[in-house]
Amino acid sequence: MLVLGIETSCDETGVAVYDSDRGLLAHALHSQVALHDPYGGVVPELASRDHVRRLLPLARQVLRGAGVQESDLDAIAFTQGPGLAGALLVGAAVANGLAFGLGIAAIGVHHLEGHLLSPLLEKNAPVFPFVALLVSGGHTQLMRVSGVGDYRMLGETLDDAAGEAFDKTAKLLGLSYPGGPALAKLAQRGKPDRFEFPRPMLEQLGKHGDLNFSFSGLKTAVVTLLRQRTLDEQTRADVAAAFQEAVVDVLVAKSLAAMRRTGLERLVVAGGVGANLRLRALLDARAARDGFSVYYPAMEFCTDNGAMIALAGALRLDRGSRIEDLGKPRGFTVRPRWDLATL
Ligand code: KG4
Ligand code: ZN
Repeated sequence: MLVLGIETSCDETGVAVYDSDRGLLAHALHSQVALHDPYGGVVPELASRDHVRRLLPLARQVLRGAGVQESDLDAIAFTQGPGLAGALLVGAAVANGLAFGLGIAAIGVHHLEGHLLSPLLEKNAPVFPFVALLVSGGHTQLMRVSGVGDYRMLGETLDDAAGEAFDKTAKLLGLSYPGGPALAKLAQRGKPDRFEFPRPMLEQLGKHGDLNFSFSGLKTAVVTLLRQRTLDEQTRADVAAAFQEAVVDVLVAKSLAAMRRTGLERLVVAGGVGANLRLRALLDARAARDGFSVYYPAMEFCTDNGAMIALAGALRLDRGSRIEDLGKPRGFTVRPRWDLATL
């Protein structure tokens, strides 16, 4: 199966060609970071308009790079949700228009399914079942993944997502958008133990094995601390390091608890925060000690990309599900809010 994947849920235009037999053939990404930077965050309408400009040229470039023709494609997978409605509509319209013109299937993919299957793009791919820690800008979830489309929620954030907490704290520290990578970089120069931030929801672990997360209190603790000090360069770095340490501690502890509770031996970490090196280092150390394996997507596929959408589409197609009427004219919907557990 040869699938073109299109990702436009937020501020990255991602396109890829994935082949069920040969793997990923080509991919390309256009990031809108520079476009949104002056506003300190993603401006939805600007995002949609930029996807309109970028998507078709990027698709042509990727098809050329893969050495395939449009007519070779078996299907076009697109991110149907969750995400920004206008941005999603651009990908959905282009995917459905192309699919209709070519007489092939258009497959609506759940963005988080793309993320959690993304480690399967790697040569050393995990086999099912596994626990997935999904940590992105919009979501923080622990899932039991038994197969494609077979996901059981073990825990999720009750307020901010981990990436969102990184982004908001980065803003407080005067770092530019997107804050997560900038904060992680600043933290490298900081001392993680100069300040002690709360580890929210960790105390519940022992008692009830609660696998939910909460990060908004942590952000408030940073606000309170920052109000009491003048921010010299070293203090900013120390706050960044202490904040990162607190988030990572919670993510690691809850992941370990999920491994214990499910009795599984493989942990998959996906989503933008999965690019965090401190998180990777701590998880790798615990995995070596406790005897389980951790799988990550390549760095470039941690954050939003077309490759994970093409892969998820191909896996859906291989399962024979969700193939909509081939080539028949039909409407399409996007789902800005969409619970992964309903798949
Ligand atoms: O998965 P993703 O690209 O988009 C969503 O689906 O949300 O994740 C983006 C999030 C942002 O919040 C970004 O700040 C965060 O991932 N992020 C990081 C790092 N790289 C990206 N957070 C912490 N450390 C990083 N190295
Ligand atoms: Zn994402």
